[in-house]
Amino acid sequence: MKHTKVKDLLNSTKPIDDVMVKGWVRTFRNNQFIALNDGSVLHNIQCVVDFENTPAETLKRITTGAAVAIKGNLTESQGAGQKYEIQVKELEILGDSDPEKFPMQPKKHSLEFLRENAHLRVRTNVFGAIMRVRSVLSFAIHQYFQEKGFVYVNTPIITGSDAEGAGEMFQVTSLPVGNPPLNEEGKIDYKQDFFGKETNLTVSGQLEAETYAMALGQVYTFGPTFRAENSNTSRHLAEFWMVEPEVAFNDLDANMDLAEDFIQYVIKFAMDRCADDLKFLDQRLADEEKQKPQAERSELGLLDKLNFVLENNFKRVSYTEAIDILKNSKPNKNKKFNYIIEEWGADLQSEHERYLVEKHFKSPVILFDYPAKIKAFYMRLNDDNKTVRAMDILFPGIGEIVGGSQREERLDVLQQKIADLGIDEKELWWYLDTRRFGTAVHSGFGLGFERLVLFVTGMGNIRDVIPFPRTPQNAEF
Ligand code: 4AD
Ligand code: MG
Repeated sequence: MKHTKVKDLLNSTKPIDDVMVKGWVRTFRNNQFIALNDGSVLHNIQCVVDFENTPAETLKRITTGAAVAIKGNLTESQGAGQKYEIQVKELEILGDSDPEKFPMQPKKHSLEFLRENAHLRVRTNVFGAIMRVRSVLSFAIHQYFQEKGFVYVNTPIITGSDAEGAGEMFQVTSLPVGNPPLNEEGKIDYKQDFFGKETNLTVSGQLEAETYAMALGQVYTFGPTFRAENSNTSRHLAEFWMVEPEVAFNDLDANMDLAEDFIQYVIKFAMDRCADDLKFLDQRLADEEKQKPQAERSELGLLDKLNFVLENNFKRVSYTEAIDILKNSKPNKNKKFNYIIEEWGADLQSEHERYLVEKHFKSPVILFDYPAKIKAFYMRLNDDNKTVRAMDILFPGIGEIVGGSQREERLDVLQQKIADLGIDEKELWWYLDTRRFGTAVHSGFGLGFERLVLFVTGMGNIRDVIPFPRTPQNAEF
């Protein structure tokens, strides 16, 4: 007999005889009521055990965490709280769970404790909801780009280039780490390494995506990305997923339009498909906010925030304007920022980004035209010769969610930039070929997928929106 998903049973419009469900016991009350969850939906289905006719041995084994198969009739529930329940006719214990040892007790656990048990935390309501939303968001990303005729490109994970030029890379090698072969200069001889050269895990698929955009027109990558930055924050992972569209003939304005439309689409998609989970996460956040002192509480709930993003245009503000706002801001004047903004050219820290979004504009913001000095080599130089056509999208509670730009399409300007930065042109010969053969205006951006999931679920720490987070000093599981 095939089993039916709890979701389908709870959505049933009529009672059904002889159904089977399989799932994990969340709680077992009064030797009679099992709350069963199978992950298909947030809610449990109540299964009512005929305890008088069930052996005591079996009843003892119905414990939190146990896997069970249940056959019975789906009937209208007598109790409050659910429309349907299952009157159990047969119950089989598929896998026992020692109630003394099972870490996911039916009570509130701290997020820290759950992180230490990341292999089991998905058995809680919160993590079940987050991971279903994450899954739907990633489907929405493909749906959006596919509907628009973008081609999905799988850029390599192992690469020889450092797209962002930040040098925060994990090396990939098959040389013996303790005793690598040396060349005549006494340096590690990478010619003997697996690829015959130094390689690393990619920090971005952009450079390869650009080559594909120069043939396929509109492309996107969506894959894992690695950064060895030692940032132990609630916004950074060493392994995260990035979505990177790249579009031929788009200038920066078109790039901003695309990013805004895309983000609104995927959020709307998740709100339509994950209404139950998001309602639950909205309540979770509201409960959490209640623990905070009044002054620190957010005025908007999670669903309010999501609706706000759908209904309002993102504010487009140049870097230069932003610096003026920040210079004249209270926290800058009162030296409340950790990094005081003194002059044009300063790199913005997340405290500044969040001030702009949360206090000043109270809206998502797209900052554009940054100083060339603080941005990557591939961004298009403006006529002022000091700013580049960069854009960062800043979100409330998150800070930077998107980084992108119009790309420098002029070969000579790009070569000069590469030379100025001391990058060896030979390393990028293939990238420069796109500018040698049929170069064209083009633009793209990268959206940090976990930062999007963070925003949509209202969670506070990026470690809680990816199944098994990779962060400094932590690669368990
Ligand atoms: O701003 P970034 O570094 O831009 C790029 O990598 C470009 N090559 C993208 C492009 O134009 N195709 O990174 C893009 C986004 C950031 O805005 C942020 O959301 C996310 O990736 N991100 C991280 N997310 C989690 N952990 C980290 N360590 C991240 N670093 C960047
Ligand atoms: Mg960035």
